[in-house]
Amino acid sequence: MLVAGNWKSNKSFNEAKEFANAIAAMPQAPAGVEVMIAPPAPYLAAMGDAQPPFRLGSQNVSATGSGAHTGEFTAEMLAGCGVQDVIVGHSERRDGYGDDDKVVAEKVSRVLDAGLRVIFCCGESLQDRQSDVHFDKVLRQMESAVLHLPAEVMDRVVVAYEPIWAIGTGLTATEEQAQEMHAAIRGWLREAFDDATAKSIPLLYGGSCKPANADALFACEDVDGGLIGGAALDPDSFRALVEAAGRVSALRMQAGAEAS
Ligand code: 13P
Repeated sequence: MLVAGNWKSNKSFNEAKEFANAIAAMPQAPAGVEVMIAPPAPYLAAMGDAQPPFRLGSQNVSATGSGAHTGEFTAEMLAGCGVQDVIVGHSERRDGYGDDDKVVAEKVSRVLDAGLRVIFCCGESLQDRQSDVHFDKVLRQMESAVLHLPAEVMDRVVVAYEPIWAIGTGLTATEEQAQEMHAAIRGWLREAFDDATAKSIPLLYGGSCKPANADALFACEDVDGGLIGGAALDPDSFRALVEAAGRVSALRMQAGAEAS
């Protein structure tokens, strides 16, 4: 299970440091649970130096290499600052900052080429869902950014399904809606790669995921954790999400042991 916090453009630098200290003072993440935080980019180097008790994520990366690209930062620069994971394809960047499918595919490749892990985001709008094209939309996004990847990098790919209508709205996908889309993504991965690859790729749910609904969402068969916005800003609610993932992880490990 992976619990990943996306802070978006929130928190002062001091608040970010206080958060990291609060998490460091809490018990270690439960067995089988990875924790990642993606703070605003200007804080990454200092947070990386402090070796926080979680994976350090970036919310963005350049689609170009080093050179005359004012304001951009490359995947290699992120790696040098201690970043391990990079979020690519978030709907807020697709819709507001020109990250179209081509740019997203380029960013995915650059993250993987730099040896980092990518958290690739996909998701449909409310209009897509109401028009019943939500599966097509999400699987087309997968096709344009993931299909061309070589099999050997797939152990550094995480997929986050974030229905746009659920992001920051308080509306959450039902367990059925989350599970059926995750199953479709898993099925697509099986067709595009193979069964073992499809099973091994963590599929995160994102969109108003919070302590009150995390147990139910994380318990869905094809949900392997969450990409969390608002509820990742407070250490206590974030910790509650990590504990919810821990409960599901313990049940899965028990089921795995009984099956073998
Ligand atoms: P919220 O959890 O605030 O809905 O945000 C989800 C998200 O966009 C995470 O990337």
